[in-house]
Amino acid sequence: MSSDRKPHSGKFGLVPEGLPRHVAIIMDGNGRWAKKRLMNRVKGHERGTETVRMVVRATRDLGIPALTLYAFSTENWQRPKTEVAALMALLVRFLENEKAEMLENNIRLQTIGQTARLPQNVREALGATMGATAGNTGMVLNLALSYGGREEILMACRRLAEEALAGQISPEDITEDIFAGRLYTAGLPDPDIMIRTSGEMRVSNFLPWQLAYSEFFITPTLWPDFTQEEYIGILRDFQRRERRFGKTGDQTRE
Ligand code: FPP
Repeated sequence: MSSDRKPHSGKFGLVPEGLPRHVAIIMDGNGRWAKKRLMNRVKGHERGTETVRMVVRATRDLGIPALTLYAFSTENWQRPKTEVAALMALLVRFLENEKAEMLENNIRLQTIGQTARLPQNVREALGATMGATAGNTGMVLNLALSYGGREEILMACRRLAEEALAGQISPEDITEDIFAGRLYTAGLPDPDIMIRTSGEMRVSNFLPWQLAYSEFFITPTLWPDFTQEEYIGILRDFQRRERRFGKTGDQTRE
């Protein structure tokens, strides 16, 4: 990949106009992947980082403008301290290793979540990469870190309540767009696709507002085993789905 390479047209049999504008992924199954091999869970996260790299490259290559990855939930803080520390270290390594490629490929790094809770070295690594990539326009790589969807919605409510108290907004002027503009994801389109690996049929507090009309793809594949072929297959399936947004099939096709 290089910055002057045009986003694909018709690559992998995909229709360029029918590509999602935003893909969101719950990367699940690292622990089970390691357990099956009698390895430490951290090995699963290490292999999972390779899959992250593949998905970022493929998404950028295809010309999809936004990718959100659920890397660490607010609930994940309850995991053993050693696992949390290992995940933080992997994140820092990922940011250091991928910064040059993000710059080369015009990728902008963003985060959603309570990033103030992250250790200082992680915040510094994030700040450095976000700062360096701030002007990039090719794709947004959005990492959900210490993210919880209900907390995000509460935060937006608090902000709007403060604005109302300050006389900056009237309650009757609060629309869906205004509300969405107070979420961490302000400025990003809602995900067209939500992928969850490892077979769980749950949303796990991931983007509850933004996923309202997303197409869900749940695969039994564990995250470290998720391949580019499977990703492309999901995008192909997506292009065959009819998205009705509450209308009838006939209305949607008209
Ligand atoms: C879920 O698997 C995965 C996580 C909680 C962390 C995801 C992190 C990575 C893929 C690597 C680091 C991230 C980046 C962006 C470099 P699990 O541990 O819950 O698996 P299990 O359900 O099988 O136990």
